[in-house]
Amino acid sequence: MAITIHNANEIETMRNSCKLAAEVLDYIAPFVKPGIITLELDKLCHDYIVNVQQAYPSPLNYKPDPNGRAYPNSICTSVNSEICHGIPTDKPLKNGDIINLDITVYKNGFHGDTSRTFFVGDKVSQQAKRLTQITYECMWLGIMQVKPGNHLGDIGHAIQVHAEKHAYSVVEEFCGHGIGRTFHAEPQVLHYGKPKTGPKLQPGMIFTIEPMINQGKRHIRFLANGWTAVTKDRSLSAQFEHTVLVTETGYEVLTTSPNMPAIPDFVK
Ligand code: MF3
Ligand code: CO
Ligand code: CO
Repeated sequence: MAITIHNANEIETMRNSCKLAAEVLDYIAPFVKPGIITLELDKLCHDYIVNVQQAYPSPLNYKPDPNGRAYPNSICTSVNSEICHGIPTDKPLKNGDIINLDITVYKNGFHGDTSRTFFVGDKVSQQAKRLTQITYECMWLGIMQVKPGNHLGDIGHAIQVHAEKHAYSVVEEFCGHGIGRTFHAEPQVLHYGKPKTGPKLQPGMIFTIEPMINQGKRHIRFLANGWTAVTKDRSLSAQFEHTVLVTETGYEVLTTSPNMPAIPDFVK
C-alpha cells in the first residue's frame, strides 16, 4: 500500500478533525489536578467529544490486532513511567505526577490525533520538567524537517540527536503514522534514524510525529492489560504528538488550538 496524498477537500476536513482533537486537550487541561482519577478525565473527554463536538473518540473499541483486546476507553492517560496507551483507572493523580493525554477524534470520515504531557500540581521535579521540555523540543525538531524532498529518516534523526544529547533514550516500539480516513496508516514515522533514508516527503501527505522519550533506558514492557507500555527500568517517559501536513513549501501543523503550549523559539 502506498502513502495517501490528500486532495484539497480532504485536507480541509482533516484541518477540522485535527482542530477538534487539539481543542479537547484545551478543554481537559484545567481538570488535570491532584486527586482526579483518570477515568474521570476519560469521561469528561468522551462526553465533550460526543455531545459538544458531535464526533467519535477513535480509541473507543479500537482493535488493530485481531488477536488482541479492543481498547476499552476514549482517551489514553499515561502517567509517569507509562510510555503510551495508558488505560484510565480509578487511581487519583498525585501532586508531582506527569501525565500524557492522547486524544484522537473522528469527524466527517477523518481522524485527528494529538497529545500533550501535563504537570499535575506544583510539585513536579525539575528532572521531570526537563524531560517534558526536551520531549516537546524533539517533536518540534522533527516537525521542522517536514518539507517536500526531505526523507522520513530526517525526522527521526533530528529527534534522536536531540534526545541523546540530553542523555535520554528514544522508544523504538511505537512510531508516528500516516492518518486520514484511517487511524493508523502508512507510513511508519520512526523517531530515530539516519538522514536521507526512507520515503521522500510529498505535498498532501499527512502523518503524526509523536516521540516517546525516556529518562532512562529505551526498553519497554507491557502491563497485564495488554495495551499499556511502561519503561522497563521504571524511569519517567514523556510524549507529545501533532498531526502534520506536508505542504508545497514545508509543513502545516493541523492539531493547533488556542491554548497549545508555546512553540519553541528555535522554530522559525
Ligand atoms: N492515539 C494513539 C496514537 O497516537 C493511539 C491510541 S490507540 C488506543 O497513535 F487504542 F490505544 F487508543
Ligand atoms: Co498517533
Ligand atoms: Co495519539
